Amino acid sequence: MIISIIGAGNMGGAVARGILKSTSAHTVRISNPSTAKLDALRREFPQLLTTTDNREAVSGADLIILAVKPWLIAQVIAEISDALSYERQVIASLAGGVSLNDIDALLPRPANSPAPTLCHIMPNTAIALGSSMTFIATLRSTPALDETLLRLFAPMGKTMLITEEQMPAATSLASCGIAFALRYIRAAMEGGVELGFRPAEAQRIVCQTLQGAIDLLAQEGAHPEAEIDKVTTPGGLTIRGLNAMEAAGFTTSVQQGLRASLK
Ligand SMILES: NC(=O)c1ccc[n+]([C@@H]2O[C@H](COP(=O)([O-])OP(=O)(O)OC[C@H]3O[C@@H](n4cnc5c(N)ncnc54)[C@H](OP(=O)(O)O)[C@@H]3O)[C@@H](O)[C@H]2O)c1
Repeated sequence: MIISIIGAGNMGGAVARGILKSTSAHTVRISNPSTAKLDALRREFPQLLTTTDNREAVSGADLIILAVKPWLIAQVIAEISDALSYERQVIASLAGGVSLNDIDALLPRPANSPAPTLCHIMPNTAIALGSSMTFIATLRSTPALDETLLRLFAPMGKTMLITEEQMPAATSLASCGIAFALRYIRAAMEGGVELGFRPAEAQRIVCQTLQGAIDLLAQEGAHPEAEIDKVTTPGGLTIRGLNAMEAAGFTTSVQQGLRASLK
């Protein structure tokens, strides 16, 4: 498959790296208006094809991944649209807050041309480390194409096929969610410093504790509340801490934050 990525920034670069590290089965092209990021990627992956011309990038590609900022999607589509072939190309977008229907409305429909096959891909910043939670929603796809897309992104973390209607909730939970998780870590670190640890020690302690919690949940059938029950001795310290956090609105705050981050 020939994969063309438009935009070599954080996300476009991470997707190119993720694909090229995991397989040599695909030809990957990437375009960007300035050359510094393209040159850096080429030094890492000499087989990567780079260009500053978006129309050249999409010509003959099987999968086109738009990895520009949301407000540039319309401009890039206008630039490449007459070089697209809906018969053979799948058009994917990483843009947050730009739905499949938005992309569909931006793409012109030449006479006798089939409607385009579209894909919305939503990774999070951990994609750079191969640890993303990546959601994929498609329009006019087939089960075989859905499977191909899931397999393409699987080496970059965990992938999940969802509907476009679920995309805002998925974005809140996993893309904004990275920031929410980091904010918990920062809060716990600051608490740890108040209790007497140096910031670097507190960070190491909090991160390993979170890692342990994640490992516990990775056990088959594990549920957070069941693991919490194991720590909460009746009348003990942990339940006092949990109840104090709940009295300060912990669960409500997290859920309000998730709802506030919906489009
Ligand atoms: N960051 C996240 O957590 C996250 C998560 C999921 C999805 N996304 C989505 O991913 C997309 C890209 O975000 P990002 O964080 O990768 O942004 P970014 O680092 O700013 O990258 C965007 C890239 O697009 C290039 N570009 C600008 N105009 C272009 C054009 N006309 N044609 C081709 N390339 C062009 C920019 O080049 P110059 O720098 O040379 O201008 C830049 O390298 C956004 O739509 C965002 O919503 C981001």
